Amino acid sequence: MKHFINLKDISTTDLRKILNDAKKRKNKRKKLNTLDVDNDRPLKGKLLIQMYEKQSSRTRLSFYIAINQLGADSITVKANDLHLGKGGESLADTAKILSNYGDGFLLRTDSDKKIEDFSKNLTIPIINLLSPSSHPCQVLSDVFTVEEIKKKPISKLNICWIGDCNNVLNSLIAASVKFKFNLNVGCPKNYNPPRFVLDWVKKNNGKINIFNDAKVAAKNADVIFSDKVVSLNDKGNKEKKIRDFKNFKVTQNLMKVTRPKSIFLHCLPRGDEVSEDIFLGKQSKVWQQALNRVHVQKSILLYSFGKLR
Ligand code: CP
Ligand code: NVA
Repeated sequence: MKHFINLKDISTTDLRKILNDAKKRKNKRKKLNTLDVDNDRPLKGKLLIQMYEKQSSRTRLSFYIAINQLGADSITVKANDLHLGKGGESLADTAKILSNYGDGFLLRTDSDKKIEDFSKNLTIPIINLLSPSSHPCQVLSDVFTVEEIKKKPISKLNICWIGDCNNVLNSLIAASVKFKFNLNVGCPKNYNPPRFVLDWVKKNNGKINIFNDAKVAAKNADVIFSDKVVSLNDKGNKEKKIRDFKNFKVTQNLMKVTRPKSIFLHCLPRGDEVSEDIFLGKQSKVWQQALNRVHVQKSILLYSFGKLR
C-alpha cells in the first residue's frame, strides 16, 4: 500500500501511470451511468473512510463517485463526532481503529502534521484531500485536464498561475518539477512562494518564474490557473489580502496577452479573482476540470492499493 500525500514525494513514473490509467478508464465509461461499476471492479469489497475537518463539495462528491465506480463502498465520518481530539482518544488509537475497520482513509484537514501522524500510525493508505500546504488530488487531475484539452504533454505548454501562493499552487509547483513544464507565477510582491518551496524546486533541478506583474506572468500562456485569494486556512486580515491582490484578477484584458487558444482553469470555489465573463466564457474549462477529478482519483486510489494496470 502507498500513501498519497504530496506530489513531490511520488515518482514521475508513478504519477504518469496514474494519468495513463485514468485516461483508459475514462474512455471505457462513455456509455455508463454515474454509479455503474467498472467491469473489473478492482476495489470490490473495500471500505474507504472519508473525513473532512473543513468544507468540501467537489472532493467529497467526486471521491464518493470514484469509490463506487471501483466497486468499493465509502462512509464519511464527521471529524467532530469522533473521539479523536475532543473525546481525548489518541491519534494512534484512532488510526488503529480506522485500519481495523477500513481499507483506506481519506482526510481533509487544516493540519499537515495530522496527515503525517496518521500516515505513521495507519496500516492502510491515507489520501490527502487538501491540507494547508498541498492539494495533490486536485492538481494531478488538473494536469490530466490540461493534457486532455490541449492534446499534448503538459511539458510542451506554458502554464501560468495568477493568484495566491497557497496549497494548490504548492502542488502545481511540485507538478511542474515532476512533469517538467514551464510555470509562471503572477502574484503581489509580498506574496511570493515560501522559501522552503523554492528551495525544494532548486534542489530538484526545477525552475519556476515569479513575476509581480500579472500581464508579464500571463504573456504567451497556454493555460491560466487561478484560485481564491483567501483560502480555508487563512487566518490573517482577509480584507487587506483581497486589496493586495486587486491587480491580479483574471479578466478579458489579461487573457488578451495569452496564446490564442489559451484556456482558463480554477479548482473552485471562486471569489473575485476572476471576472464573471471569463469564468463563464468559452475559454473556461472549469466544469470539465471538476468532473475529471472522478477519473483521476479512481486511479489515485488504485495506485494506493497497488492495483494500477
Ligand atoms: N476544488 C475543491 O477541492 O473543491 P471542494 O473544496 O469543494 O472539495
Ligand atoms: N486554496 C483553496 C482551495 C480550495 C479547494 C483553499 O485551501 O481553501
